[in-house]
Amino acid sequence: MKQDGVDKGRRRILTGAATVVGGVGLAFTVTPFIKYWQPSARALAAGAPVEVDHSKLGEGQLLNVEWRGQPVFVVRRTEEQLAELQNVRGRLRDPDSEVEEQQPEYARNEHRSRDPEFLVVVGVCTHLGCSPGYYPELQAQPFDPDWRGGFFCGCHASRFDIAGRVFQGVPAPTNLVVPRYKFTEQNTILIGEDEEGMA
Ligand code: FES
Repeated sequence: MKQDGVDKGRRRILTGAATVVGGVGLAFTVTPFIKYWQPSARALAAGAPVEVDHSKLGEGQLLNVEWRGQPVFVVRRTEEQLAELQNVRGRLRDPDSEVEEQQPEYARNEHRSRDPEFLVVVGVCTHLGCSPGYYPELQAQPFDPDWRGGFFCGCHASRFDIAGRVFQGVPAPTNLVVPRYKFTEQNTILIGEDEEGMA
């Protein structure tokens, strides 16, 4: 697992009480089971980063964690899902993540992440703020006969690919937001903070 030259094996020194270690729920494939971890009101008010252990996350599965009162999806993508990133390019509104505020610089790449295997994205639709569902299957869906995996927002039918890139012809104007994050040590992701500081 690579991360822009950062040694994830290095033990991170906790610099204060601002970091929250979260238990998280697993959401499995077709009918996602979503269980939010609830940080304390104090942590929420502080906008504290959330540390996520993804060691139990199987290929193709999604972890749904709460950060600053909003869902953040962590998806461990399969090789098959990653292969579709090229195939759907022509159907996307912003395939190269040119809307800069939608992601940190290290996520302005085709997979929109620091490690192609792991997607970290705010699970809030860029239309009116509903939370889209996760549809990992690479097969036709009622809302898209050419579906190749990703996210579907049922309220107004916006669709996003498995990198959170928005499709053309849907209400959502931009790709899903990638928050600042970093891999802190083996099997751990810190959401809301990176080498540049906190989000
Ligand atoms: S809020 Fe997602 S499509 Fe309207």
